[in-house]
Amino acid sequence: MIPQGFIQDLLARVDLVDVVGRYVQLKKAGQNYLGLCPFHGEKSPSFTVSPSKQFFHCFGCGAHGTAVGFLMEHRGLGFVEAVRELAQQVGMQVPEGPADQAQATGRLKGLAELLQRASDHYRHCLKGSDAAIQYLKGRGLQGATAARFALGFSADEWTGLAAVVDSYDDPQLVEAGLVIANEGKRYDRFRGRVMFPIRNRRGWVIGFGARALDGAEPKYLNSPETPLFHKGRELYGLFEAQEAIRRRRRAIVCEGYLDVIQLAQAGFEESVAALGTAVTSHHVAELLRLTEHVIFAFDGDAAGRKAARRALEAALPVLGDTRRIEFVLLPEGEDPDSLVRLHGADAFAAELGQALPLSRWFIRSLSEGKDLGTAEGRAAMLAEAKPLVSAMPAGALRMQLLNELAGVARSAPAEVENLFGLRPWRRLPEARPSQPRRQPADTADLKQHILQRLLAFPELVDEFDGAIAAEFAEGESALDRQVIEVWRAASSAEGLTCGSLQELLAESDFAAQYREAATRELLAETDADAARLELAGAFAKLELRRLNGELEALAGRQPLDAAALARFRELSERRARLMAGASAHGRGGAAAA
Ligand code: UTP
Ligand code: MN
Repeated sequence: MIPQGFIQDLLARVDLVDVVGRYVQLKKAGQNYLGLCPFHGEKSPSFTVSPSKQFFHCFGCGAHGTAVGFLMEHRGLGFVEAVRELAQQVGMQVPEGPADQAQATGRLKGLAELLQRASDHYRHCLKGSDAAIQYLKGRGLQGATAARFALGFSADEWTGLAAVVDSYDDPQLVEAGLVIANEGKRYDRFRGRVMFPIRNRRGWVIGFGARALDGAEPKYLNSPETPLFHKGRELYGLFEAQEAIRRRRRAIVCEGYLDVIQLAQAGFEESVAALGTAVTSHHVAELLRLTEHVIFAFDGDAAGRKAARRALEAALPVLGDTRRIEFVLLPEGEDPDSLVRLHGADAFAAELGQALPLSRWFIRSLSEGKDLGTAEGRAAMLAEAKPLVSAMPAGALRMQLLNELAGVARSAPAEVENLFGLRPWRRLPEARPSQPRRQPADTADLKQHILQRLLAFPELVDEFDGAIAAEFAEGESALDRQVIEVWRAASSAEGLTCGSLQELLAESDFAAQYREAATRELLAETDADAARLELAGAFAKLELRRLNGELEALAGRQPLDAAALARFRELSERRARLMAGASAHGRGGAAAA
């Protein structure tokens, strides 16, 4: 592995305009450079390179990235090769030789070997456990199915794995998530459970899901996050399903281990599941590399609908126009497993046949619980749709969704587009009339604004440390988590540009959102000083909002005791100061927002 630090140093020395300029004729246009996109055929230039932000974006096809990404795409190089080539161009030595790399991979391999040994052991134990065999039979599974998924059983013993490892004290057992070390004691994590090995694309066992036979809690116990196992990235069953996904040109995503297994047994071998977490953009992108058609099949209950909503949100940022994403909401109380068992494979096939296309589910999910017969209901729907649509890459699908939304909202598509602050994707940046910057209206807008500015100007991060912690650390929305993540990444190194920050965040679950936000910044062409003022203003405004909320709550309290009164006074003073524009964040203040 090449250390992140080196990649950051390298990107700091390379000039993207030079790198791209070798292959594409570029012309200065405002702060940026423009050229004909090398990634799709076009007659007028929509390929934009930002020298200050050090990344490129094509407003025609959506191609996007840093110098490393450009070489990868354009020259068909792998990541390491692209880094090597760039390093050579600026005379830097890539630090890690093949030996170090082998060592890093070797460590992971060591963990995978332990997990494989454990998996073999669990399979062996299954053969000896009548209770476990009866359980699986009772759930309708055949021997061949159990073998296909390498199902096993962990005996109800504290140190069952000791029998199959060289040393039970091996710290790697803990690192692999197989053994728990607690107050000097060590014991097996999985005891008395049916074992579902989770394999990566190459077939390495990287973790386990484990189901209790009886009513023990939790019903499913999963491996913890380990150097090998990341829940947000892995899909259960993908190793087993990948060939079928390619062959049948579709993937089915469901919620549970047994759904995947039962579906495979019923002939739907192209099934996978997220691992007890919500579906992430990374999951969807991974599947879309294998097929253009992804079907989410979730339970018809409230939890299933919530999962389907999350899946929708995860899919939007990574959707290209040629993708087909569908949603099946099963009848209340059914999951794919129970449906297939009770009503057979045909019943499931029939459900697939009635799948909702993404655009329909989008509208339906957004209309839920709102009275679209009233202006208020329609406005609430639009407000909810805004961040979702904004996360989508510009293109035909986004346009179609906008049209449908507009229809339901009884507005013109252009009005909705305008309301969302979207730029029509066809229009080239140079042709864009300069429009006044929209004022952020609500808290989510303010936060999105802050996120965008931080992504564009990582160097401003130091000024807002305290404010970020106060406003975002306790928030639970995706946006809050994004701001915190970007803030951490931006604080982690000196001299980051927007582009090198993107590289740092490339592995994030939110990478697609960051990319989209950074792209919008490319068009905004704000300079650092203006951004600094705006950020200060946005933070002040957020704080003001928080203060107002707290003041209101205090004012409503009866009776108002001395402590509350003191707090009231304190808040009022702080508010007065903020309103006067003398915010503690220095330059800017509330007046700038
Ligand atoms: P469900 O509770 O819907 O269970 O959880 P299920 O898959 O239908 O399981 P069975 O049919 O009762 O055996 C769906 C998925 O959520 C995760 C698991 O991945 C499960 O398959 N989960 C659920 C957990 O990780 N832990 C739990 O305690 C429960
Ligand atoms: Mn089930």
